[in-house]
Amino acid sequence: MLPRVISEDIDLVTQLAPDLRPVRVDVGQIEEVLLNLVLNARDAMPEGGQLTITTANAELDEAFALTRTEVAAGPYAMLAVSDTGVGMDAEVKANIFEPFFTTKGVGRGTGLGLAAAYGTVKQNGGHIEVDSTPGRGTTFRIYLPAAAAETEPVKPLASPQKTPRGRETILLVEDDEALRLLARGVLQNQGYTVLEAVCGYDALEVSRNYAGPIQLLVTDVVMPRMCGRQLADALVTQRPGIRVLFLSGHTEDTVLRHGVASETVDFLTKPFTPDVLIHKVHEVLVEPLRRLEIGG
Ligand SMILES: Nc1ncnc2c1ncn2[C@@H]1O[C@H](COP(=O)(O)OP(=O)(O)OP(=O)(O)O)[C@@H](O)[C@H]1O
Ligand SMILES: [Mg+2]
Repeated sequence: MLPRVISEDIDLVTQLAPDLRPVRVDVGQIEEVLLNLVLNARDAMPEGGQLTITTANAELDEAFALTRTEVAAGPYAMLAVSDTGVGMDAEVKANIFEPFFTTKGVGRGTGLGLAAAYGTVKQNGGHIEVDSTPGRGTTFRIYLPAAAAETEPVKPLASPQKTPRGRETILLVEDDEALRLLARGVLQNQGYTVLEAVCGYDALEVSRNYAGPIQLLVTDVVMPRMCGRQLADALVTQRPGIRVLFLSGHTEDTVLRHGVASETVDFLTKPFTPDVLIHKVHEVLVEPLRRLEIGG
């Protein structure tokens, strides 16, 4: 999925160790970390460049461990994401793992990507660090402790054939083109008909011009001018019975200020993996109709 979320002027290069040590982690969590790092690298290269994903076995020695807090010496597997983008100065670098720290404009970044990545890596007994030079690029390295040799491979939870399919029509509203194309591709592969819109007004127009039924609205929460909740309210009036799934990369707080409370509505936090999207869409569509209780 990664080539689809980065733009065409970014070269994706992989240097993967054939004999990489196994680690014991939640695959979905690590995928999310990788996706966050890749999206950051993409944002750091608005004019294009090279994105390199490297894996390697690494022995962290006492000298390495001593100069870092909470790192034990030993065998690790290393995952690195490098870009040739804008890089960071010392002040930015000192704050990147802080929750809500972002240099991206309002509505463009929540500053939670790296904080979440840090949490996941720590939770798995690992270590994350960054090398960056302004104007040259950035490398993030994640070290995960090698699992004991006798560890059995973990079977994937759901085999690909078991991913739920559907025939419903979905109206997908997302202004980030890369994410929209990705979600569209994923949903179409599962058999859904997907109508696309880039904002609330666009979505109302698409709905007005579409004669057939639309079973599900999948919409970004925070959008310029008309937010996701207003769009949902308008569409529910136009098409009673339509289900709504909100997408948000924003914190619960921001989302609440935009009038969507996660207990009463269906909700997916960005970024998400294709599998998570498929299962959530299926869940929202097959569950008995729930009343949309949003706003005050
Ligand atoms: N590869 C990178 N190159 C340059 N700066 C980066 C890179 N990765 C992260 N940063 C800096 O670190 C900040 C925090 O990153 P983080 O992923 O936590 O949040 P965000 O990308 O701003 O928002 P979010 O990921 O929540 O959408 C970014 O705003 C950016 O300034
Ligand atoms: Mg980010």
